[in-house]
Amino acid sequence: MAEHGNAVDELMAMSTEEILQAQLELYHHCVALVKSMALKAATDLRVPDVIYRRGGAATLSDLAADTGIHPTKVAHLRRIMRVLTTSGGVFSIQNSDDGGTPVYKLTRVSRLLVESSRHELSAMVGVLVDPFAVTAFFSIPKWFTDERAASVSLFEVAHGCTRVEMVAKDASYGGMFHAGMTSDSRFILDILLRESSGVFQGVGSLVDIGGGHGAVASAIATAFPQIRCTVLELPDVVAGAPADIGNVEFEVGDMFEYIPPADALLFKWIFHVWQDEDCVKILRQCKKALPPRDAGGKVIIIDTVVGCGSQQVTVSSEMQLWLDVYMMYVDGEERDELEWKKIFLEAGFSDYKITPVLGFRSLIEVYP
Ligand SMILES: C[S@@+](CC[C@H](N)C(=O)[O-])C[C@H]1O[C@@H](n2cnc3c(N)ncnc32)[C@H](O)[C@@H]1O
Repeated sequence: MAEHGNAVDELMAMSTEEILQAQLELYHHCVALVKSMALKAATDLRVPDVIYRRGGAATLSDLAADTGIHPTKVAHLRRIMRVLTTSGGVFSIQNSDDGGTPVYKLTRVSRLLVESSRHELSAMVGVLVDPFAVTAFFSIPKWFTDERAASVSLFEVAHGCTRVEMVAKDASYGGMFHAGMTSDSRFILDILLRESSGVFQGVGSLVDIGGGHGAVASAIATAFPQIRCTVLELPDVVAGAPADIGNVEFEVGDMFEYIPPADALLFKWIFHVWQDEDCVKILRQCKKALPPRDAGGKVIIIDTVVGCGSQQVTVSSEMQLWLDVYMMYVDGEERDELEWKKIFLEAGFSDYKITPVLGFRSLIEVYP
């Protein structure tokens, strides 16, 4: 009661300016989701493609014409573009000196959303700003406090099934999910092969565990045709994988039960979906499948190491911490180096190396 009284007293003692600033900050936090939603809308309307096809500069009427929006919504599109030009620099706006019509241009962020771009990530916007993920966060208080809810994932509390089950049973959701994962995999493998291709030196066989539709394995098989590349995945994912993936084999299996033997076992964005005890179980299966370190055996992990990474320290560390909370929706988490080390040692691995060359994520090699 006394504490309650103090909080009220402290508010009463604030200047008008301070209290209005506090209210501004509070409301600003609450409506921060507008930025994500505006970005999702512009991506779905393919605004980046329109600007690109118009030679890199488009007026509001160009955008309206080429996105096919209803005439009553042109002014609304301008409001969305204003948020995306002022907050975070997704687009830029150039006003002409003679008072002519302003033009919107692409920035390094929106260039990643252009369809023909080698690094296109627009499908990943769909995965990150996913209505199933976003609505799951409204169930956090229930998940934290309710006995029954606490025993399942947040996704399950909100939607009655796990994300893996939703991917399997809802074709449109599954399609969106795998398209996003494929685009992210192509993107990050391009960077990995450019910056750290030595990680695959001397590897004769590789299994990408939970490798989705095979984008990572395909990129490795193309860059290193001598490596025999396999994807281990769940039955529905293998059934839906594209046939023209190149020199990659698919094997149906459960990584908790069995992992096929290979020189290198790769995990991209797998461990951050699981709690520590599950990670240890998976890594113990890896130990059975790998040759010793001096014969070239290793686990290759592409995931976040909180505190390691990009030059853009502020955005990167905020991204890592936000992603840590974001991953709650599937009961996953992001780990710092000590947390990673703990699970490696507990699973019986002797050593590891972190190479922070993948932006907010890192390359981790773990040795038996
Ligand atoms: C977050 S996705 C990552 C996909 C891919 N590695 C990537 O980064 O693009 C996790 C993948 O793990 C697969 N998965 C989940 N449980 C699995 C299991 N028990 N055994 C094998 N794969 C599994 C899912 O089907 C899904 O494709």
